[in-house]
Amino acid sequence: MARGGARLALPRKLLLLLPVLGLVSASAPWGLGAWRCSFSSSCECDFRPELSGLECALSVHLFGQPLARELLVRGLRAFVEDADPAKPLVMSFHGWTGTGKTYASALAVRHLLREGLRSPFVHRFSPTVHFPHAERTEQYKKDLKSWIQGNLTLCSRSVFLFDEMDKMPPGLIDAIVPFLGPSWVVFGTNYRKAIFIFISNAGGEQINRMALDLWWARKDREEIDLKDLEKSVLEAAFENPQNGFWKSGIIEQGLIDLLVPFLPLKQHHVKQCVANELASQGLQMRPDVVQAVADSLPYFPEEEKVFSSTGCKMVASRIPYYL
Ligand SMILES: *[C@@H]1O[C@H](CO)[C@@H](O)[C@H](O)[C@H]1NC(C)=O
Repeated sequence: MARGGARLALPRKLLLLLPVLGLVSASAPWGLGAWRCSFSSSCECDFRPELSGLECALSVHLFGQPLARELLVRGLRAFVEDADPAKPLVMSFHGWTGTGKTYASALAVRHLLREGLRSPFVHRFSPTVHFPHAERTEQYKKDLKSWIQGNLTLCSRSVFLFDEMDKMPPGLIDAIVPFLGPSWVVFGTNYRKAIFIFISNAGGEQINRMALDLWWARKDREEIDLKDLEKSVLEAAFENPQNGFWKSGIIEQGLIDLLVPFLPLKQHHVKQCVANELASQGLQMRPDVVQAVADSLPYFPEEEKVFSSTGCKMVASRIPYYL
């Protein structure tokens, strides 16, 4: 009798538990997928776009680039909301040094994937690290192609960042052309969900010249004609043998979906960078330091000194001298 009771007791407990389990999974707002995701790191789990968060972070931390912010957020939103995109999203960030291209890309990654740049599904390529020897371009092409294909097979939601495209051996990037268009088949995966971001200074002079023209015409820097700008930036990149886009099929075949221009910064933007840097180092906000650091940096053109030549790049290393 006692044994029988004990035998009965177990299923009884389970029966009692069942509605509880049912209740949990039915009422949890994020559903069972997210519940599984709290225990494992898989591709679809890691991909958690939070574009309002990105928009907010960009407005607070990326100075002087409302145009880039708007283009980036709008482009990403349209892409991630499309359950079955026709091609992967290919974005190219262009602009002068220190205007926030790398910073914006890092913020974007942080708001796309749960683990940000530490996610196993983000791949960042830097020519000085991954492709240092121009004479080994053929081998690099093979490697790059197999990495992209391998990683896309593991995770269709992969993000690929190509830093410093201007230092990339010309010809190399064309190894990935097949992955960027609408017609390539990567076995067993939907490679069209991938995101590619290129970062380069190429076309920076063209962007600066247009911003300067607007300044001379006393127009708002945001009034830039995007079509015109896009054309001259891509032409500059395509025609300059000193960068990775030289004669590239990526430009020739129009595979870039979104060109994001980063405008040259004015002194008040540089000051915002200094203040931001002081705050992030936990230092006291001192207007005299902010002014001194901003004054110590070069501006162009020679006479009018409208835009910063180095943007926010030198800011962090200068601060200690003015404290
Ligand atoms: C994924 O890319 C990395 C480089 O970021 C490479 O080392 C690795 O081998 C690739 N994985 C596969 C499965 O190809």
